Amino acid sequence: MVNSVEQRTPLRFIDLFCGLGGFRIAAQIACQERDMNPQWVFASDIDVDAQAIYQANFGERPAGDITQVNESEIPDHDILLAGFPCQAFSICGDRRGFADVRGTLFFDIARILTVKRPPAFILENVKQLRTHDKGRTLGRIVEILANLGYQVEWRILNALNFGLPQKRERIFIVGFRDTCPYRWPEGGLPMRPLLELLEPEVDNFYYASAKIRQNRLQSVTSRFAYEELTLWHENKSGNIGIHPYSCAMRAGASYNYLLVNGKRRLTEREMLRLQGFPDEYCIKGGYSAMRKLVGNSVAIPCVSAVAGAVLDALRGRSIPTRIPQPLVSEQSLQSTIPFRTPSVISLGAVSSQYAE
Ligand SMILES: C[S@@+](CC[C@H](N)C(=O)[O-])C[C@H]1O[C@@H](n2cnc3c(N)ncnc32)[C@H](O)[C@@H]1O
Repeated sequence: MVNSVEQRTPLRFIDLFCGLGGFRIAAQIACQERDMNPQWVFASDIDVDAQAIYQANFGERPAGDITQVNESEIPDHDILLAGFPCQAFSICGDRRGFADVRGTLFFDIARILTVKRPPAFILENVKQLRTHDKGRTLGRIVEILANLGYQVEWRILNALNFGLPQKRERIFIVGFRDTCPYRWPEGGLPMRPLLELLEPEVDNFYYASAKIRQNRLQSVTSRFAYEELTLWHENKSGNIGIHPYSCAMRAGASYNYLLVNGKRRLTEREMLRLQGFPDEYCIKGGYSAMRKLVGNSVAIPCVSAVAGAVLDALRGRSIPTRIPQPLVSEQSLQSTIPFRTPSVISLGAVSSQYAE
């Protein structure tokens, strides 16, 4: 018995390391554009702020620590989505990669793919993953995914090319269980001006201290800085860059890392808009929690383009309804992948809230 992607209604997704649910919104948009009906059968994030805001926006509370979830208890799905934690590979982290437990969360994705065998997956991470450990870390990730029987493609894409005024370069890794003619989205969309995204008036709370504003002003000489709506970005060495777009928003950056015209911080709504979230997205939690969550999230138009291309590649392909065996035995994978043996917890409560 086979179903094509169009025939399979709904198309089942899981949202690992879900954070604010940026991947979910992006995939929902891609499905909507293609008249497909997505169904979300599982989500997980360890962070309680993320769980609360995800629940407020989607009505479902994500499961917690994925290392404690037994893969066999995750519902069957068609597409696995995962923006896995990047601190270990990021230029701002200490770049320990697989030596850091957060880097090894990739292996939790691998163990889920091994058992659930979804037809496709989309992974996202910082662009530094490409060069980490002289390319060996990415090479290992691709090798593990290919050994699981997936056709694997990766590319670095910049949100600026997908219409957002944010320079956010991220690596995307997509995989197909059966060979698929995948074509990366080209981008090339005109950038939305900051004027459309920034709020005309904001509370005093968002203004930097007079001292910081004075320092910023003294450090720049460009007339451009005063005449246009710009974002002033302070880099690690304290130099100020001024652009008509935002630099990548980051979870752990200093409060004055990005200032609108050198004067004020971005509001929660502005940060969300810079990632492409719709204004219906409900804000929940304090300013610091939102900064962290938005900085960790994804550029929705960029992810939506990648997800759309995955759906197009799958379109018309036959998807066996029964999960085929991996090309290599689980036992031989166990010898190459340091699989966790998570303590089994019951997902009964979680699964039931995702049930149709
Ligand atoms: C890069 S962010 C992904 C954000 C998400 N894609 C979004 O659109 O908002 C990584 C997420 O992984 C979560 N995380 C870290 N360790 C985890 C674990 N052991 N189990 C589940 N989630 C975890 C973090 O809390 C964080 O929200």
